[in-house]
Amino acid sequence: MKRRYYSTLAVAGAAVMFGTTPALTSEYSPGSTTGPDAYFEQAGNGGYDAQHYDLKLKYDTATKLLTATADITVKTTQALESLSLDLRDLSVSAVRVNGMPAKFVKTPPITTHGYREGGELIVTLPSPVRRHKTIELSIDYGGTMGQPRDNTNTRYGFVAFADGAFVANEAEGAATWYPVNDVIADKATYDFEITVPEGKTAVANGLLESQSTANGWTTFTWVAKDPMTAYLTTASIGDYDLTTQTGPDGLPIINAVDRKLTAAARNTTNASLARQPEIIEFLSSKFGPYPLEAAGAIVDNDSVGYALETQTRPIYSGSAGLGTVVHELAHQWYGNSVSPTNWSDIWLNEGFAVYATWMWTEHTGGRSTQASFDAAYAAGPTSARWAVPVAAPGATEIFGDAVYQKGAMTLQALRVKIGEKDFWQLMRRWHQQNRYEDATTASFIAMAEKLSKQNLDNFFDVWLYTAGKPAAGSW
Ligand code: ARG
Ligand code: ZN
Repeated sequence: MKRRYYSTLAVAGAAVMFGTTPALTSEYSPGSTTGPDAYFEQAGNGGYDAQHYDLKLKYDTATKLLTATADITVKTTQALESLSLDLRDLSVSAVRVNGMPAKFVKTPPITTHGYREGGELIVTLPSPVRRHKTIELSIDYGGTMGQPRDNTNTRYGFVAFADGAFVANEAEGAATWYPVNDVIADKATYDFEITVPEGKTAVANGLLESQSTANGWTTFTWVAKDPMTAYLTTASIGDYDLTTQTGPDGLPIINAVDRKLTAAARNTTNASLARQPEIIEFLSSKFGPYPLEAAGAIVDNDSVGYALETQTRPIYSGSAGLGTVVHELAHQWYGNSVSPTNWSDIWLNEGFAVYATWMWTEHTGGRSTQASFDAAYAAGPTSARWAVPVAAPGATEIFGDAVYQKGAMTLQALRVKIGEKDFWQLMRRWHQQNRYEDATTASFIAMAEKLSKQNLDNFFDVWLYTAGKPAAGSW
């Protein structure tokens, strides 16, 4: 699902090479095997737009063997003779297109930037398909799961542990466990049918539709109806207890907490999760109504060193601290409902989520957001937060201090610059106008300028596009 279609590199390339106009829709071509994002060009594919993923996963926690079928509905955006999906290391045994067996090739991942990326499933369509047609793909695949690493050598994707799996895909780790068009702007709906050994609990996004046990295996069916970008999907498996709460306006909150948390981690976690309704209510009062069908948490005793705002159900490493819960809940508006179009725009997620924690601190009697700004601004000139431009951090700095801290500072500085009324209107309108879609930094700036009737070029140059500590009075 997306509003904009990008033409494939293959077509654009051919047009340049031969000096012709791009192929007419009556001419079929292969969809691009690369995507539109400059930071992760191996992720993503051309020629279609994913609508829905129906993932049937059977995972044996003892052997770490995944056996799966992905039924994927796509809509073509060009006349296609073949198309590709991102799939890292797993192997494919059969592909069907609209129920007909199809030929396919699985290419291995590459290591050009010092980490494993890419890996494609290239499917030849049994007969070529015109533009704007729906195709049903069915892919049988599987393999033994490990602990994949991202471009900063951090574990991500489907991370197998002795008791299950911690599944957190940011930035392009979804391809470690299912065939996918792994680009932010291609949001889709998802169904998950996850079968695990009896006694284990499998947790995905959205709502739990059913749970049934037979012959020593339990199948959990989760349905996620809100449009979702692939990095926010999860299918985590562990020794979880499921509990429910009710949030504002009857919002279902489903929590999965590992039975093996230490006593201290359990206390911290329980105290934080108990406050989710109150946090959601506070954030809603500032950002507008909570945008998604459900909320909740997955708290695993195993750690990958970070938490992730997996849609409707953030996942936490080891325990869930209160500030982190506020941060991940804020992402449900900023990051999940409205997503950055490109990875270079990720301050639109992280700057906003950090700012939400500053707001929460003030709301609960701690220091003001301005005091948080002042403390962040006090960092010395060699701090990592001044090292790269916030809105152009580079692929290995998307989770760096500049994006998080200087990103949050940008919002506080903007609030002072344009005033309370315009600032809060901007925060709400930004979400509301882009809800379930994706948007760029440029459109945020345009909205801020329109609302405030100020030229903010210099302001955003200083805060977002220039590295270094902004000199007092320079914005
Ligand atoms: N978006 C997550 C958060 O700030 C952080 C993800 C970090 N991921 C990573 N691979 N280092 O809540
Ligand atoms: Zn975050």
